[in-house]
Amino acid sequence: VTVHLVGAGPGDPGLITARGLDLLRRCEVLVYDRLVAAELVDEAPPRALRIAREQLSQREVNEALVAYGRAGLEVVRLKGGDPFVFGRGGEEALALTEAGVPFQVVPGVSALAAVPAAAGIPVTHRDLASQATIVSGHAPAELDYQALAALTGTLIVFMGLAGLDQIVDRLLEAGKDPNTPAAVISNGTTPEQRTARGTLAEIPTQANALPPPALLVIGEVAALAAALRPSKLAKAAAAA
Ligand SMILES: C[S@@+](CC[C@H](N)C(=O)[O-])C[C@H]1O[C@@H](n2cnc3c(N)ncnc32)[C@H](O)[C@@H]1O
Repeated sequence: VTVHLVGAGPGDPGLITARGLDLLRRCEVLVYDRLVAAELVDEAPPRALRIAREQLSQREVNEALVAYGRAGLEVVRLKGGDPFVFGRGGEEALALTEAGVPFQVVPGVSALAAVPAAAGIPVTHRDLASQATIVSGHAPAELDYQALAALTGTLIVFMGLAGLDQIVDRLLEAGKDPNTPAAVISNGTTPEQRTARGTLAEIPTQANALPPPALLVIGEVAALAAALRPSKLAKAAAAA
């Protein structure tokens, strides 16, 4: 195996897996995403070729992975969160498969549960949510709001900050209760983490000033953020 699609975790550099870090420290070529922690990029050997993903189109990324992989170099494709959760890891894996280049997927800690957790929100809870649904808010006009509004449990929207007003308006129009608890977590697991909380109807205003990347969480579990903020727990533990 020469190409490794590695999950970097949600932002905190300590949340990469042991296997991912080991591969990163031995790679010869590193292709990394914008959201990957700078500390992790620094973990690659000084002589490794570093390629920032944002300078390339997806086709060029695929071509680079295929070319360096064919050349037999140890390639780490470092992606935010988990490579196969809204990360285009599937597209890259297909390109490598079609080219006959062997690859390995090293999963990562996805923002999916780690970012809500960092804000004190468990995405499921025995009494409050026995299912969780994840959607991309990248193209908000294309979502099926009737279906989403009818769901119980927790709704987690990736890439939903730019379309937040539209997403919330359409969910309310489709009959979602405006009093449903909601939260937007920006830069989760990093020192810049900020959380906006409120009802679904309030959340666009509350989250107005938050920068990306941000995750939108809708559902009863979002109300637990008030009681379960990890910093509060840490302070209580320190005081005990
Ligand atoms: C292209 S998706 C990649 C998701 C990634 N593969 C994962 O598993 O977490 C990027 C989106 O993930 C969410 N996200 C990633 N990191 C985040 C963080 N630290 N805080 C909040 N949201 C984050 C945001 O919704 C962002 O727009």
